Amino acid sequence: MINVGVKSGFFCQECGSKSPRWMGKCPECASWNTLVEEIHLPPPKFKSYKKQQQPLLLAEVELAKEERYPTGMPEFDRVLGGGVVPGSLILVGGDPGIGKSTLLLQAAGKLGTKDKVLYISGEESLAQVGMRAKRLHINADKLYLICETNIETILAHFEKTAPRVAVIDSIQTMFHPDISSAPGSVSQVRESTDKLVRYAKECGTTIFVIGHVTKEGTLAGPRVLEHMVDTVLYFEGDKQQSFRILRTVKNRFGSTNELGIFEMQDRGLVEITNPSALFMARHPLSSNPGSVVVPSIEGTRPLLVEIQALLCANSFGTPRRMTTGVDHNRVALIMAVLEKRVGLNMGGHDAYVNVVGGVRLLEPAVDLAVALALASSFRDLVLDHDLVVVGEVGLTGEVRLVNSMERRLLEAVNLGFKKALIPRVNTEKVQVAGLEIFMASTVAEAIEIVF
Ligand code: TYD
Ligand code: MG
Repeated sequence: MINVGVKSGFFCQECGSKSPRWMGKCPECASWNTLVEEIHLPPPKFKSYKKQQQPLLLAEVELAKEERYPTGMPEFDRVLGGGVVPGSLILVGGDPGIGKSTLLLQAAGKLGTKDKVLYISGEESLAQVGMRAKRLHINADKLYLICETNIETILAHFEKTAPRVAVIDSIQTMFHPDISSAPGSVSQVRESTDKLVRYAKECGTTIFVIGHVTKEGTLAGPRVLEHMVDTVLYFEGDKQQSFRILRTVKNRFGSTNELGIFEMQDRGLVEITNPSALFMARHPLSSNPGSVVVPSIEGTRPLLVEIQALLCANSFGTPRRMTTGVDHNRVALIMAVLEKRVGLNMGGHDAYVNVVGGVRLLEPAVDLAVALALASSFRDLVLDHDLVVVGEVGLTGEVRLVNSMERRLLEAVNLGFKKALIPRVNTEKVQVAGLEIFMASTVAEAIEIVF
């Protein structure tokens, strides 16, 4: 029933923007057929302004002690910035079936051996969650489970149980009884999250919220959600492969772009503490054309990854360009540089570039490795098997500076590499025992050195 004074509006289910009337196309994000009428509750009125907090001088503010506590899963803690902050709301997003429920049930199992943990499932029955917990060998005597989707009831349970940590699986199944739109819609997701944020801040409970990702790759029930929470983690990976990567997208209490790496096995997620070894598909003593190893840094951790390229002459039609794990446009740019500045005529070739292990490399420091992988496949020549390559490539074909060089090279030495090709502008300070260092100032020079 709609109360008097309750406003309604049309909300875009993609971007969350509000329009006063229905339109076929969202004026904000230009997607079609996404406006849905939703009822909005008026914000709660303050009972008395006198009870409001008074502003304090900065010097008078009592600093909260940053008392983080570990989840018991070091890879998870790394991504959170060193553990869980009390009273924070952490959103874990990812494709359906990627392993979000498994990850959080495992974390709840670890946390539930010490503190009270409440796991709220809106997607599976208690029996299903119980069976999964059995499969994961969870044995926590302070872990409580409940199936519930009504956010008001959940808050009542919070008050009764007073858990230290709670898990909401998933936010798209939660609903507020006063809002008429379906669970998963913008208003429902926003209202439920708002209630959870308030509770978390007030009572110091840490709440993990699971959220599904749409086909377009954003969290269903739009971006709005990301603004409301303290931390946003994405759980991603190739479903055909067993590796899973937990990535920080936003963190009010730590750095972003941190990675946690797991492997999905039949007994749940296993943490991978030495991921570099995992991403090296080839035997360390052999090498093929088109394969180059790059010491990349994701977050705070160096990661040795193999990049593979395959070029194939295409005599009919437009050449294909396919990439996995690196940016499509970046590869196009590097191919243009190779063509114009080095004279490698790749225009009529299909090009495929792949990062082994399903990891995504976002930093430009991998450019030179991509360039050499392409050149290696094009000329059908192999690089030395014990060489790593790192450097950013500019439009004039110059090889540009890369940060944290020493950490990258140390990781390479640890995994048995003997040579490194790095940007000439980098070399002044870098010296790593056991590594022969080559320098290049242009892509053309780099190609001279390696072939
Ligand atoms: P799930 O956590 O249900 O995914 P999400 O909550 O993100 O939708 O994980 C589902 C997949 O994980 C499923 O395809 C089976 C697989 N899995 C394992 O391989 N091993 C296990 O021990 C468990 C519990 C799941
Ligand atoms: Mg699930």
